[in-house]
Amino acid sequence: MTTVTGAQDFRTPGLARLARRVIPTKHAVLTAEDACSAYFTDAEALEVKQRVHDRYRTNPKALHDHLLEALALRGTEELLDLGCGNAFVLERLRPHLAAGHITGLDIAPAMLEAARRRMAGVATPCDWVEGSADSLQAFTDDDFDRVMCVYTAHYVADLTTLFAEARRVLRPGGRFLLTTDQPDSMVEMYDVHLRALRAAGGPAHLAKASPKARISLANGRRLLAPHFDRVRVLEWQDQLQFASVDPFMDFYRASYHCSASAGPAAALPALLDALESHVAAAVRQVIGERGYFAVTKFSGTLICS
Ligand SMILES: C[S@@+](CC[C@H](N)C(=O)[O-])C[C@H]1O[C@@H](n2cnc3c(N)ncnc32)[C@H](O)[C@@H]1O
Repeated sequence: MTTVTGAQDFRTPGLARLARRVIPTKHAVLTAEDACSAYFTDAEALEVKQRVHDRYRTNPKALHDHLLEALALRGTEELLDLGCGNAFVLERLRPHLAAGHITGLDIAPAMLEAARRRMAGVATPCDWVEGSADSLQAFTDDDFDRVMCVYTAHYVADLTTLFAEARRVLRPGGRFLLTTDQPDSMVEMYDVHLRALRAAGGPAHLAKASPKARISLANGRRLLAPHFDRVRVLEWQDQLQFASVDPFMDFYRASYHCSASAGPAAALPALLDALESHVAAAVRQVIGERGYFAVTKFSGTLICS
């Protein structure tokens, strides 16, 4: 069963055509070493991305509102968040778990430090665990009422173990939530980025692979079905609309650094400068013609029980 929520349908034939032309289909796998040393060293980049997303979205519901719908909390649950990042989402869920317990797990120490700082002093007990989402030996069977993995599964090397372990640590009657995108989500950003990469003469391997091709809303149900009795999908759309270039550039820069869409930017400072000036020019042109630059998101949560 698929439920679609959201006020507006942003799918258009033009966007679908663009996606067919632009979205990479090859898979990229991030190693644990890359995740810690190159991609997720900067909790600030994730924070920028989250704040810009929240400010420029047109769906009245924020990410945590969609998650709350899927989590169906009573307030007493034990929640495990796999890839908790800087706890931006957990902070917003926490009032709904006032008598519960939160465990945040992340592979990157910088993210866990930011999460710890953000949640310091809240009365809901929180534990922070450094580790990979496909290695949950720290937890015993049936430890949690809810396990969630939000915009993180595509970075995890062993998806089969991730799903089997999520099932194992979940109590009977519990729920596992996997939040991800459709492969054609944010196609407008891929388009300006990949055009800039060609214009700047960037290496071709940076254009060919997206980690999201491994797991997305398109194949998630099939991958999860062997591990759970029931998999439902709650989908939503959103469109970020930027009427000026700078906030989009903040979003683009943060995405480039932390979404691993095209390789570690830190290794290529000169290329990064060139990319940014090509992208800014393309976005400025669209804003001049249309009034705003749109980034359309096709997102959702696979709810497994
Ligand atoms: C895009 S962020 C999402 C953070 C958070 N779930 C949110 O939605 O705001 C992805 C997070 O996954 C973490 N991560 C990447 N690979 C991981 C792995 N194998 N196991 C656990 N966390 C991982 C990163 O450090 C980063 O904090």
